[in-house]
Order: sequence, then C-alpha cells, then structure tokens
Amino acid sequence: MKRIPLILDGDPGHDDAIAWLLAEAGRRRGSFDIKAVTTVGGNVTLDKTTYNALRICTLLGLPAPVAKGAEHPLTADLMNAPSVHGESGLDGPALPEPGIELSELTAVELMVKVLKESEEPVTIVSTGPLTNTAALLLSHPELKSRIGRISLMGGGIGFGNWTPAAEFNILVDPEAADVVFRSGLPLIMAGLDVTERALLQPEDFSRIKELNNPVSGIVWQWLEFFYEFHRKLGYAGAPMHDPCAVMVLLHPELFTVRDYYVEIETGGEYCRGATIADKRRVTGREPNAKCIMDLDRDGFADRIIEAIGEFT
Ligand code: BDR
Ligand code: CA
Repeated sequence: MKRIPLILDGDPGHDDAIAWLLAEAGRRRGSFDIKAVTTVGGNVTLDKTTYNALRICTLLGLPAPVAKGAEHPLTADLMNAPSVHGESGLDGPALPEPGIELSELTAVELMVKVLKESEEPVTIVSTGPLTNTAALLLSHPELKSRIGRISLMGGGIGFGNWTPAAEFNILVDPEAADVVFRSGLPLIMAGLDVTERALLQPEDFSRIKELNNPVSGIVWQWLEFFYEFHRKLGYAGAPMHDPCAVMVLLHPELFTVRDYYVEIETGGEYCRGATIADKRRVTGREPNAKCIMDLDRDGFADRIIEAIGEFT
C-alpha cells in the first residue's frame, strides 16, 4: 500500500500532540509520509504552539520540517484556551528542548512547497483553527487539486464546547472554517459528536504507563493533566478530540460516518462558529463533509495504546 502524504497542521495542545504521535506511529508502520508540520495560534499563542510543536517532534523523532503559521485568525482576534492546556499550552511533564530548527518558510509557504513537490494528492490533518489551510486556499487556489482531502477536528452538530453552539477550533476562526467548508474539497469532520465519545479512561492511562518506553511516561502525564480539567466538568475520561482526525485515516472501520452538507455560521448573536449540518437535506445541497458521528471506543483506545507502544 502507498503511504499517504500528510501535512499536520495544529496548535499543540495535549490532544494535538497525541494526534501527531499517532501519525508518527503510522509513519513508522508504513501508512503515512509526513511531509510537514505547521503551527497556528489557537489553544495558546503562536510562539507557544510553535515551541510545543518543536518539542513534540523532538520527543517523537518525527522527521518533518516544522513551520510557523498564522498568529491570528483571518479577520477575528485570537481567542486562547489556557484553562484546558495550561499556560504553556502543553502543561504537565517536562519535555526535551527542541533538537530541530524551525523552517525558514512560513506555514503557507511550506504547504505550497509540499503540494507542488508531492506526486500524490496530500491529506491535510487540521487539529486547530483552520486559519493556515484557509490562507493556503485563498492565496493558491490553483493548488486545490493537489489536496486529496482535509481531515479536521472541529465543530459539533447541534452543540458546542466553548459556547452552547460552537466548538473551540471553529469558533476561533469561523471565517477560515467557512473558506474550507465551501472549498469543494473532500472533508472529514471529526466534531464533538464523536470526539467527546473518544475518551481515554483511567484504566487506559494505567496501560499506557505500564508500556514504560521513552514516550509513554510523558503521554501518561499529559493524559493525567488533560483529564483533570475534564474530570471537573463531569467527563469519564480524557477526550481524544484531535487523534480522531488521524485515526479515521488509519482505521476508518472504527467510526460511524454520515455525509452532510455543513455550513459555518460566521455572524449570529448566539451561534457564531456553529457548524450547521443539513441532516434532513432541506437545502437540497449535496453533502460537503463526511461527519464522524460515533466510534468503537474500546477499539480506538486499543489502537492508541498500540501506537504508543511503537516508541521503544
Ligand atoms: C479542540 O480544542 C482544543 O483545545 C483541542 O486541542 C481540540 O483541537 C476541541 O474543542
Ligand atoms: Ca487542537
């Protein structure tokens, strides 16, 4: 089987880091060719997400260029989530200092280079606000045909986690999400519908700790940190939002997917950033996204633990 060329775009973030771990494990097993890692302001400011990206890639031995992306959303002010990920954006265990240099290219420049050079259409995995991807589509529409699909974590059908209507990644930059959802490109949307069911539970944490390899202890501490915030909100585990956007590429059989036409609310007094899915096809429009609605939770947890086990 051919390796899927990937660009990992995100704002790490504990669950972004675990998504990238899953991608690197997939690369080691021959499923992916990770062409680039790009960062965006989101969970915390761009300087912090970029520093985190360099530390994560160093920890994982992920051999791709890392480029800094958008500091701010396309038009809105940046909104952060330090309550979820801590002041550094990746609080918890001590991490290695970056052992790799930041690319001299911007995220969009690196994406352009990768798209032009790749023989196969490239999959973009977006686990933060969609600002970089939208900037790429707006500045280089001619490269659209080189994007195979965009697998994104964002949205929720009928509910949010940052406002009653909106999920964090979409709410940070609804204008960017709007560009992506109108792009006509194949989209896979891992929204809260599935990601809040993709829980790693305390029993899974123990299995991860017992792996006792060079990354398992750090992942275990990330999970403990990330769960502490969610436990207080009543979650039964740590929601693996971002890993869903990678896992669906590796193991689609774990997920239940529905095709819907999805629009992004960019105005609205109460609903800015909402992902409005035409479940009943009242618009008559063809679906523009494969929306993941559910998953085999135990199979998902097993596959994540297996991936962490790759880092011997
Ligand atoms: C999303 O928001 C971020 O805090 C997480 O990393 C995830 O991408 C979930 O709403
Ligand atoms: Ca994220």
